Amino acid sequence: MTTPENLGPGDAARADAAGRLFVALDLASVDAARALVEQLSPPITSFKIGLELIYAGGIDLARELAAGGHEVFLDAKLLDIGNTVERATDQIAGLGARYLTIHATDTKTLTAAVRGRGASPLRLLGVTVMTNLDFRDLSEQGVTRPPREMVLHRARLALDAGLDGVIASPQEAGALRETFGTSLEIVTPGVRPAGTQAGDQSRTATPTDAIAAGADKLVIGRPITAADDPPAAAGKIIDEIALALAR
Ligand code: C5P
Repeated sequence: MTTPENLGPGDAARADAAGRLFVALDLASVDAARALVEQLSPPITSFKIGLELIYAGGIDLARELAAGGHEVFLDAKLLDIGNTVERATDQIAGLGARYLTIHATDTKTLTAAVRGRGASPLRLLGVTVMTNLDFRDLSEQGVTRPPREMVLHRARLALDAGLDGVIASPQEAGALRETFGTSLEIVTPGVRPAGTQAGDQSRTATPTDAIAAGADKLVIGRPITAADDPPAAAGKIIDEIALALAR
């Protein structure tokens, strides 16, 4: 049996690569999500539970996966008055989740989340600019600066408020790394292996390019969850990440 103690160099590189991948469990039921986790784990150990699954009983699954030793990323994308964000974050810390997202639009929201996590190991990620939005979508919101500038602006708010990292598209990962060095963990959705559908994502890149640009972790949903063979699709992505890390 392969254990962390008897991993060969290739196995260790693959385990590191698998640890960089969050699979987005964007599914309509806890049963379907649990079945996918069982199919993918190992080698995948990190799973993201987002809005669809949260409203289909995903909070109980988050608790269950965390108790079973998985790394749980609760993508709740909090944005509310400070008191509510603080108390919601406190509840989420109690689930055993490892990561939580908060919209990084203002300091009041972000500092409330920092208060809410208290001394727990919950890591807070600020959502900068959603990866499906482009310049035109931002101007519709009254935001006249281009996506990249807004990502950097909101990342600064997140860092100053005490967050651990940000969510941004792979296209901004390089600028984030250059500006903030290693002081922020960079997590990128909008990742599409070559030959897969972009779907509704706008600012996309391949796993290779995301890692080369400096992303710490990649969030990938449909290229795995909608594949004919999800473990095979995940395996190919892990190999691609391992290769990119080795370069
Ligand atoms: O299926 P796909 O790979 O596009 O899934 C991306 C996941 O990342 C989804 O769960 C989506 O909600 C999430 N996400 C995103 N862009 C952000 C923040 C989160 O796509 N800025």
